[in-house]
Amino acid sequence: MPIYPAANRWILETRHTAYVFGLSAAGLLAHHYWGRRLPNPTDYPIPAEPTGYASTDGPDHFIPEEYPGYAGVKYIDPCLKVTFADGVRDVVLRFDSYTCADPQLDLRFQDAFYPLAVTLHYRIHPDHDLIERWVTLENLGSQPIHIERAFSAKWTLPPGDDYTLTHMVGRHADEFNLWHDPLTPGIKTIESRRIIPSHRAAPWFAVHRAAREDTGEVWFGTLAWSGNFRINAEVTEFASTRISIGFNDWDFGWTLQPGQPLITPAALAGYTPHGFGAASRLLHAYVRDVLLPHGKVTHKILYNSWEATLFDVDETSQAALAEIAAQMGVELFVVDDGWFHNRNWDNAGLGDWRPDARKFPNGLGGLIKKVNDLGMDFGLWIEPEMVNPNSDLYRAHPDWVIHFPTRARTESRNQLILNMARPDVQDYLIDVLDKLLRENNIAFIKWDMNRPASEPGWPNAPGDQRELWVRYVHGLYRVWGELRQRHPHVIWQSCASGGGRADFGILRLADQVWVSDNTEATSRLRIQEGYSQYLPAITMEAWVTDWDEGIVPLQFRFHVSMCGSLGVGGNLLHWSEADRALAAACIQQYKQIRHIIQLGQQYRLLSAQQSGYSALQYVSADQSEGVLFVFRTHIPEKFNIPQIYLRGLDPQSVYAVEGHGQRSGAGWMAAGLRVPLKNFESRLLYIKRIT
Ligand code: GLA
Repeated sequence: MPIYPAANRWILETRHTAYVFGLSAAGLLAHHYWGRRLPNPTDYPIPAEPTGYASTDGPDHFIPEEYPGYAGVKYIDPCLKVTFADGVRDVVLRFDSYTCADPQLDLRFQDAFYPLAVTLHYRIHPDHDLIERWVTLENLGSQPIHIERAFSAKWTLPPGDDYTLTHMVGRHADEFNLWHDPLTPGIKTIESRRIIPSHRAAPWFAVHRAAREDTGEVWFGTLAWSGNFRINAEVTEFASTRISIGFNDWDFGWTLQPGQPLITPAALAGYTPHGFGAASRLLHAYVRDVLLPHGKVTHKILYNSWEATLFDVDETSQAALAEIAAQMGVELFVVDDGWFHNRNWDNAGLGDWRPDARKFPNGLGGLIKKVNDLGMDFGLWIEPEMVNPNSDLYRAHPDWVIHFPTRARTESRNQLILNMARPDVQDYLIDVLDKLLRENNIAFIKWDMNRPASEPGWPNAPGDQRELWVRYVHGLYRVWGELRQRHPHVIWQSCASGGGRADFGILRLADQVWVSDNTEATSRLRIQEGYSQYLPAITMEAWVTDWDEGIVPLQFRFHVSMCGSLGVGGNLLHWSEADRALAAACIQQYKQIRHIIQLGQQYRLLSAQQSGYSALQYVSADQSEGVLFVFRTHIPEKFNIPQIYLRGLDPQSVYAVEGHGQRSGAGWMAAGLRVPLKNFESRLLYIKRIT
């Protein structure tokens, strides 16, 4: 599964796929092929040289360029748009050279006149069937070059204009809703302008022609970036479909200085002929194998006190919860918001990361000792990027926040955003959080981010203020990266009012994501299904809470959370003895199966976003065991229960499905089983290979 380099054509092959491009007669880097891997390199097509259409559209307009700059008589959505110091505003890229050190191929281009070098990087991930692309821009001259757009990649689909774009739309507490939009001529944009990827759009796409969960060709991708992103899905007037992905160029500006390259985030994409499920599993495996700091270790079952105590946190209240949690089998006790100086509600305290002396007269140490003595690890919530105007930090450094000096500083949740692009802010946060971690036995951090940017100003910025959008994220990565390096044992969770920062960039730093502030179990089924399109269960922290107490049985709520990394977040003081006993049993059961859920393969059998009766299956990597979850929410009584066809089993082996007898893997997959349920009933069935 190599890269076949040649003077003017490059073939990148993964285990099952191939991606091919080459130089056109005019010297443009043209896409040739993306799909199934073919037996021989000569099988991949070399497109005919275009001749143009009329004076309205020159030949270059028809070349599906890998990385088009704005230049010439071509009007394709460009990947690169620059202004040179003399005011020239196009970029004419000429191929210079390439280097290939499998699994990476770098192609270097230079502007025909100006000292701008552009290197396109390609890296194959053979076993994950993924191609990774990013770009380095270098100024080889002495005058600054202004960059107005610098995407990471353009992905060209096989010729045609009959594709559907599947993407996700959401809101706070209602993230990851799937949409399937037919692509028509023009550009469909999915983007964030909020400084985080946001709840509104996920940085993920899938393009297909009526693919389904297990069938159909899917070209899919994502961006490893935790800030503003843009996905432009373009269908040209000549039936060509292409997806660009990268930094959002809305309000983007970058002054490229000599000796200071701009490196774009990595775009990752893949192809499968086996539907959305296979696409998800490729991404899941990549996240676990390549991105996550602790991708091979299952997560501890945590308790988080947020929904139980809100800001009313002190040593006594937390210790009381910790005792019950430990009795139930919880392994990690997390104190959420409210523990730090002057934090009694959301209107004060952010920025002052030291324990509130009134609530914790013994520091955090007293509580941590109790938690550790109960046999649990201790975890803590922080929101480092934020500051309340009512805080010591803001009073000392009002200039540290993102703001325009002539505008009001709009507060949201009574807070402003620290300018993470500033090195002094980064250094301050590294110091204060490192101290917190050094002085306390903290095994887990929930890193929150609860408001999007407004008035995105950076007074006295060293360069173009619009660099803020990118430099903020670089600053965030630096602070978090430094802390993670100094404290490698800590498990980190990425939260942004729920799932507002769930991306392949943050998952190099965080092991988990807080998927949604909505912990109501039936909503969670839908949210979790969307999340699973690109992110694996090991990253999906899911608590059992009291939201739908009295409506949805506790068992059902546990089953929903057991589909990810199980946590508990209800007010345990109010749970009856029977509830605590049921919780303890579920926790015990989860401990037996969590390796299958967190490290295995996931199969979405019946969609919760499409029906009130849904099913989900996990299979261990060696196919020796599995788990089947089935849920019925509130649907008409006489609803016709669908057949459930298992997936991912070894067809030749015999498997027992708990309560349903034994059959071959082929039998369970072809003939399926029925799991009749009443409204708000759920089942967790263990699957075991017998022979
Ligand atoms: C955000 C998070 C919640 C909780 C609160 C605390 O809303 O998403 O889980 O941590 O902040 O203020």
